Amino acid sequence: MGRLTVIASGKGGVGKTTLAANLAACLAQRGKKVIAVDCDVYLKNLDIVFGVQNSHIWDICDVFEGRCKLEEAVIKIGESGNLFLLAGPLRAPENPQGLTDFILKTAKELLAGGEYDHIILDCPSGTGRGIEDYFIRGSHVIVVATPDVTSIHDAQITAAAAYAAGADVSLVVNRIRARSVEDGTSPDIDDIIDSVGIRLLGLIPEDGKTSEALNAGKLITETKRSRSKRSYTNIAARTDGEFTELYRFW
Ligand SMILES: Nc1ncnc2c1ncn2[C@@H]1O[C@H](COP(=O)(O)OP(=O)(O)O)[C@@H](O)[C@H]1O
Ligand SMILES: [Mg+2]
Repeated sequence: MGRLTVIASGKGGVGKTTLAANLAACLAQRGKKVIAVDCDVYLKNLDIVFGVQNSHIWDICDVFEGRCKLEEAVIKIGESGNLFLLAGPLRAPENPQGLTDFILKTAKELLAGGEYDHIILDCPSGTGRGIEDYFIRGSHVIVVATPDVTSIHDAQITAAAAYAAGADVSLVVNRIRARSVEDGTSPDIDDIIDSVGIRLLGLIPEDGKTSEALNAGKLITETKRSRSKRSYTNIAARTDGEFTELYRFW
């Protein structure tokens, strides 16, 4: 049976979709068969981050609304043959909660089917229904936060909901500026971990090449000399169950 990893945060724009895509790609590079699923039924982004937004026809809503079969909506990413995507809908669906329920049911079926080693769910921002539905017993919920007080507050709420649902919960702190941590203008990373109160999975530096890669339709982990690449490979190793020390870059 595969592993279900749910990427959530509460606050928007903290790097969930970037992490979902790069984590999926790094797991595929480790030889695992991976499918990433865009759970944002209003504002899909994952196909854009993978650079395939103009090269696929069907998405998960087309499956839900009966226009195609699930197999037809599965998009192959790259040439490795073990990285796949289920894209989110282009337009808001008529029945958003129905689509959320369908995505969750599909994820559970993919998990039970045993074809994939990892199923990565990229959650929308926010809290409550449509997000917490994906926090299921036995899943691994990665809560993403950036070093600012609002993001930390929202991460605490998200982590509590995931924990209450019986998920295995871990924290990724993204967009860390080493210099700001050192000179005290950014919250101390250990204080963030203590206040969110969950296991630390990874730390990712601020990397100016992230949006450059995004605009070129590439993943940051495909970019040479990217500052954050090693963080994603480290998070992938740890998600894959390998005992690897946390990558600290300062
Ligand atoms: N480590 C990073 N360094 C610099 N920019 C980043 C980093 N991670 C994400 N970003 C940028 O932040 C923005 C929001 O990221 P995104 O993954 O879409 O967030 P979310 O899915 O949480 O809304 C994007 O423009 C992305 O390129
Ligand atoms: Mg997103």
